[in-house]
Amino acid sequence: MQSDAVFRSAKGWDNFSDKYARRIQKNTSVFCMTLLNMVHYEEADSILDAGCGAGYLHQHMINQKKTEAHLYGFDLSSEMVKRAGARMKRFLKQEKIGSLDLLTQEEVNQVSFDDEIFNKINYHLSVGSVEDLSQYQNQMFDIYICNLVYQIIGDQDIAMREAFRVLKPGGKIGITVWGRKENCAALWFLKELAFETGLSPVGMQGGRFVQHSEELISLATKAGFINSICWQQMVPFDILGMNKVEEFFNPEIEGLLAGATQEQKDSYYKALEKMINDYKKENKPFPFDCYLLVAEKPQ
Ligand SMILES: C[S@@+](CC[C@H](N)C(=O)[O-])C[C@H]1O[C@@H](n2cnc3c(N)ncnc32)[C@H](O)[C@@H]1O
Repeated sequence: MQSDAVFRSAKGWDNFSDKYARRIQKNTSVFCMTLLNMVHYEEADSILDAGCGAGYLHQHMINQKKTEAHLYGFDLSSEMVKRAGARMKRFLKQEKIGSLDLLTQEEVNQVSFDDEIFNKINYHLSVGSVEDLSQYQNQMFDIYICNLVYQIIGDQDIAMREAFRVLKPGGKIGITVWGRKENCAALWFLKELAFETGLSPVGMQGGRFVQHSEELISLATKAGFINSICWQQMVPFDILGMNKVEEFFNPEIEGLLAGATQEQKDSYYKALEKMINDYKKENKPFPFDCYLLVAEKPQ
């Protein structure tokens, strides 16, 4: 998970896609699973996963959706979408089911979005932005889900209006955004501790934290949605100790550490350990708190 300004760009996410797919998305997908449950996507004919990242739940969705239903996924980062495709190919070949964390770059590079293997299961991948859904027609989808993307985009109102446009009357939207900063340590600990220990000249930059459900409800209402429900939910990140904490390091942190002195590195690792242990001492998991919203387009 990463929130800095560089992660608003496709290139930033491209560079992070391997680690995100391999390790992090299994945490963030818990919110997405909640959204899927709440929107009853298994009844839909056409589903859009906007900003799908590496498609962690797409195998689950392919299994649960109606056979004839279409699943569309797109992301700003082509590397992310290719990872979603490579996962799906493995799944369809029954090589490995579940957390497909052993994808090679070669497999990823070989993915073609119009592969016949995807057409057969009505699975459609593409690259795009949530702020411009011109690749999709008006009233095309029953369900639009978007997990953990709205907080890092330029214009949430435009994204919402686009979602409204592509949904059928009676269609449902489900989105998640970061909750209050103090409840989202899993999101900012790497960069903020780098700042506090002098490893980085700046702390976490960019990204919006939501303070209250009203903010999301009014975003949806302005775009024309009705019957909004909005709630807070926490996902505990599976960071249970210093063991394997490097698996969460993004390219920026790796770069900072590569240029750091041994003393800086030691002080950074000590700060990480202290923070993780502070949660453990209180018998609490490492938290990531979001607001989730589900709403309907009027009939
Ligand atoms: C935190 S990840 C969430 C990915 C996935 N939805 C999940 O549940 O794990 C944020 C994703 O948003 C994508 N992204 C960033 N800006 C975007 C935009 N304007 N349109 C579409 N995707 C975007 C990134 O490439 C990245 O894959």
